[in-house]
Amino acid sequence: MVNAQTAELQIFLDVATEAALTGGAILQAFTGKLEQIQEKGRPGDLVTEADKAAEAAILEIIRRHFPSHAILAEESGRSGDEGDWLWAIDPLDGTTNYAHQYPAYCCSIGLLVKGIPQVGVIFDPFRQELFRAATGLGATCNRRSIRVSQTEHLRQSLLVTGFAYDRHQTPDNNYAEFCHFTHLTQGVRRSGSAALDLAYVACGRLDGFWERGLSPWDMVAGVVLVLESGGEVTAYDRSSFVLESGRILATNGRIHQEISQELLQVKPLVDSSHLPSLKT
Ligand code: IPD
Ligand code: CA
Ligand code: CA
Repeated sequence: MVNAQTAELQIFLDVATEAALTGGAILQAFTGKLEQIQEKGRPGDLVTEADKAAEAAILEIIRRHFPSHAILAEESGRSGDEGDWLWAIDPLDGTTNYAHQYPAYCCSIGLLVKGIPQVGVIFDPFRQELFRAATGLGATCNRRSIRVSQTEHLRQSLLVTGFAYDRHQTPDNNYAEFCHFTHLTQGVRRSGSAALDLAYVACGRLDGFWERGLSPWDMVAGVVLVLESGGEVTAYDRSSFVLESGRILATNGRIHQEISQELLQVKPLVDSSHLPSLKT
């Protein structure tokens, strides 16, 4: 029996899918043909005409279906009225990879209902992988059900993380954490796409992901995917996840406590003031 809430989430999921597939197709159409790669404020924080074109097409679809919903999108900011629904959209997560034609990027479309992540679609147009999830409806990749990994211990795990664009300006740059877990696990990857990192935790390719300095559009869709595939999402100290904090710990659940404990024990390894700054 499909209740009204489930039916509504299914509609949101289908529109998010249409938006992600459309955005992804635009990204693919621009590959190898980019003419405008610009820094937008922080060193290394890039934007291209593909980010903008994909975002415009995604917003047109969301607005056409749900004119009363609010939208928070990376390139155009917040629009729409305050209400129960807020779409969190990253038209191109992994812009640095994309600009270098390194194939690790995606389109990420999430929906918060009354502040809670409820719908997530992440589309990797290079691999043609479509990750979808909605609260209570499960998680899929290319329409097949996905689950998190069964890895029990950190020493058997493969993790992933990333480094925010403010890493040149803050000692809270995640370098010590990266070294710490590199010694404790089978490896730590740095893909350059937080949304794909979360999708890969959801489907069991990776066992855990932590990062700081993220924005809501990087995380909302992936959070729904990890939770619906049986994983766990919290703050570093295993307290409730707070989207606005920019910090996330997402795992298969089994290694969550171990990672959380280690994260709280990490001591700064490097004095960042000795590191070179980015050449302009
Ligand atoms: C970035 C990616 C990256 C993460 C950065 C994000 P963008 O998003 O998700 O993996 O480390 O913090 O800002 O700029 O490619 O959309
Ligand atoms: Ca992003
Ligand atoms: Ca982006």
